[in-house]
Amino acid sequence: MNLLMTLKLLPIVVTWLVVYSYAGAPCSSDECDILQRDSRTVASSSLYRKALPNAPDGYTPKGQTCPVDRPSIRNGSTLSANETAWLERRRTVTTDAMIDFLGRLDFGSLNASSYIEQNAGNASALPNIGIATSGGGYRALMNGGGALQAFDSRTPNSSLPGHLGGILQSATYLAGLSGGSWLVGSLYLNNFTDVTSLRDSGTVWQFQNSIFDGPSHSFDFGISTVKYYSQLEDAVSGKSDAGYNASITDYWGRALAYQLINATEGGLSYTWSSIALSKDFQSAGMPMPIIVTDGRAPGQILVPDNATVFEFNPWEFGTFNLPLEAFVPLEFLASNFSAGTLPTGQQCVRGFDNAGFVMGTSSSLFNQAFLQINNTDGSVVKNSIEKILGAIGAANNDIAVYDPNPFYLYSNQSVYASSESLFLVDGGEDLQNIPLEPLLQPQRKVDMILALDSSADTTTEWPNGTAMVATYERSLSPLGQGNGLPFPPVPDQNTFVNLGLNNRPTFFGCNSSNVTGAAPLVVYLANAPYIYQSNVSTFDLEYNTTERDAIIENGYDVATLGNATIDSNWPICLGCAILSRSLERTNTPVPESCTACFQQYCWNGTTNSTDPGTYYPIYKLSQLHV
Ligand SMILES: *[C@@H]1O[C@H](CO)[C@@H](O)[C@H](O)[C@H]1NC(C)=O
Ligand SMILES: *[C@@H]1O[C@H](CO)[C@@H](O)[C@H](O)[C@H]1NC(C)=O
Ligand SMILES: *[C@@H]1O[C@H](CO)[C@@H](O)[C@H](O)[C@H]1NC(C)=O
Ligand SMILES: *[C@@H]1O[C@H](CO)[C@@H](O)[C@H](O)[C@H]1NC(C)=O
Ligand SMILES: *[C@@H]1O[C@H](CO)[C@@H](O)[C@H](O)[C@H]1NC(C)=O
Ligand SMILES: *[C@@H]1O[C@H](CO)[C@@H](O)[C@H](O)[C@H]1NC(C)=O
Ligand SMILES: *[C@@H]1O[C@H](CO)[C@@H](O)[C@H](O)[C@H]1NC(C)=O
Ligand SMILES: *[C@@H]1O[C@H](CO)[C@@H](O)[C@H](O)[C@H]1NC(C)=O
Ligand SMILES: *[C@@H]1O[C@H](CO)[C@@H](O)[C@H](O)[C@H]1NC(C)=O
Ligand SMILES: *[C@@H]1O[C@H](CO)[C@@H](O)[C@H](O)[C@H]1NC(C)=O
Ligand SMILES: *[C@@H]1O[C@H](CO)[C@@H](O)[C@H](O)[C@H]1NC(C)=O
Ligand SMILES: *[C@@H]1O[C@H](CO)[C@@H](O)[C@H](O)[C@H]1NC(C)=O
Repeated sequence: MNLLMTLKLLPIVVTWLVVYSYAGAPCSSDECDILQRDSRTVASSSLYRKALPNAPDGYTPKGQTCPVDRPSIRNGSTLSANETAWLERRRTVTTDAMIDFLGRLDFGSLNASSYIEQNAGNASALPNIGIATSGGGYRALMNGGGALQAFDSRTPNSSLPGHLGGILQSATYLAGLSGGSWLVGSLYLNNFTDVTSLRDSGTVWQFQNSIFDGPSHSFDFGISTVKYYSQLEDAVSGKSDAGYNASITDYWGRALAYQLINATEGGLSYTWSSIALSKDFQSAGMPMPIIVTDGRAPGQILVPDNATVFEFNPWEFGTFNLPLEAFVPLEFLASNFSAGTLPTGQQCVRGFDNAGFVMGTSSSLFNQAFLQINNTDGSVVKNSIEKILGAIGAANNDIAVYDPNPFYLYSNQSVYASSESLFLVDGGEDLQNIPLEPLLQPQRKVDMILALDSSADTTTEWPNGTAMVATYERSLSPLGQGNGLPFPPVPDQNTFVNLGLNNRPTFFGCNSSNVTGAAPLVVYLANAPYIYQSNVSTFDLEYNTTERDAIIENGYDVATLGNATIDSNWPICLGCAILSRSLERTNTPVPESCTACFQQYCWNGTTNSTDPGTYYPIYKLSQLHV
């Protein structure tokens, strides 16, 4: 596997006991108290403000008595009732946020904040923003994190001229894939904290401690590397002893969680579905998070372009793609569904949707790095992984096993319904490395997408539009798994490089009359060196604090064009992109300031497909010396 050859793993340092004070309690006394109750009670409890350690038995899924309304598989041809109800609440919140953000900008003939106010009574007239953060390991987490920091009104100084604070608050959806799922997950599992807090916490985002060492130097959660590995092993063996097939992804997801979730033992009991129980999420105080993963059909090794794209949202796991088109309530993921129902006598299993496992699933490509454990501390885990490898074969080392398969016998048309296990892999394996697909579902009515691309496409590990091309091509395939989702035309990768579309923000689909269906306007923001060479290797799993902060800051500059020092009109232009489809729907004339922006930032259909040679971008601002 040539990926292995690109591994740039730092030698494992055996680190001995630093802190021996691990308390072992998976929840605080308040939390433990509440965990005894039914999750429905939990939802209405005022104590609950954040994602929860609400799994019944740590990492081990556990069968329990079912609610009176037994869970079942839902036909995915519509949005869930939960999402529909939530969206209504979210619209009010985003309206206020857009009034704030757009109100700071001078569009000349258009007073954008009055415009939003005037149309506030008609939510479908207003802009509907989605943000998508690509895969690319820690590079994607950090670069995408810098952009989210820039979009977040909670970031200090982000409301000053030239800054973009408030776009995150204006967004309806926030999707993450692989490394991007680490970013999204880390925010939501930590009470929708902000990137600045995660960066400065001293307890999470400690990337100087590689996943091979564990949180050995963390102030609050520090444990020895030996203890760390024994916790990984205990968690995963607990799950497999209870009868659930484990995969390397279980180890990987567990390890990852120690860096992303602000709790002891990597938040052993935190579930993804608990996001839906948090009070701030229920009152729609934040965008809806979506994590993307690809299906791998039984017997398949390579994920084809027509792969089935699955999503985890706060309520459900499943796919809109035909022919499966089905969702399961996330909370009850590993219950023994058959033909869409949970037969009488079968218990409701909870705790399978462990938050680390969900992020690990979306990033299962990194299982390969985890196979490199050599240190003696990890010998138990290493042996277990070798056993798993022996059973599944090396070619399958990137799968996450979802067994029992919730969609078993649900439909007679989908290969995914024919097998008792469901295999999922890294969301980028179909080359759609930006999680756009959930945002293109027509029922979600997203009309503007901020596509943050931290892919390593070129030999020099910068993006070259490959993810955009993959989604565009999929949108063209008539019987495609993407169900012919609307997506604006994009050019080939050579054009991306030759025209610099990957080196400055580019708008696609500006002219809605030139796109099929209701395609959104897509703002493509590719990783580029503004102040730092942020093209670090995907498989570099260790970063010192200085480098981490430099890449996050570079990401801030990617999003803001160096706080508008490169183009003072940039915030207005981004505002124009946000407003564009809405102005059309309300037949409002486009202000001249926006026409000029579209002239400057929209791809106008020009191509230059000659081979550009090796791509070496130069600094766009002065280099930051670290
Ligand atoms: C889901 O609903 C769609 C639209 O009503 C229908 O065409 C499809 O057959 C349904 N799928 C299943 C598995 O029932
Ligand atoms: C989702 O909606 C169903 C009813 O449609 C409701 O019973 C359930 O509590 C909702 N889930 C959450 C987490 O809000
Ligand atoms: C979660 O965040 C909200 C909003 O910032 C805050 O009011 C609340 O206290 C936080 N909850 C916890 C448990 O940290
Ligand atoms: C991490 O948790 C501690 C308490 O357990 C809290 O004080 C701190 O603010 C949290 N940090 C983040 C970034 O959520
Ligand atoms: C993808 O296409 C191949 C070949 O056309 C087909 O055999 C396969 O069933 C398709 N995959 C899915 C998930 O539909
Ligand atoms: C483990 O050993 C192999 C073979 O000696 C080596 O290629 C690999 O880089 C080592 N892994 C780590 C994490 O040091
Ligand atoms: C773009 O990236 C793809 C995928 O890595 C690669 O095959 C192709 O050669 C790249 N093209 C250019 C012009 O960088
Ligand atoms: C941090 O990492 C960068 C990149 O590898 C390196 O240049 C720098 O010297 C390191 N700084 C410290 C303080 O270790
Ligand atoms: C932009 O602002 C951020 C945050 O205020 C700062 O960290 C960064 O250095 C600024 N960038 C430039 C190019 O001024
Ligand atoms: C389209 O953009 C290219 C540069 O990307 C420029 O050279 C060309 O003049 C533009 N064409 C039109 C019609 O504006
Ligand atoms: C318009 O659409 C066609 C294909 O549908 C595409 O080739 C062309 O590049 C598009 N032009 C623009 C400006 O997007
Ligand atoms: C197309 O791109 C090539 C390679 O970057 C460049 O040398 C050439 O000048 C470009 N052609 C045009 C017409 O701009």
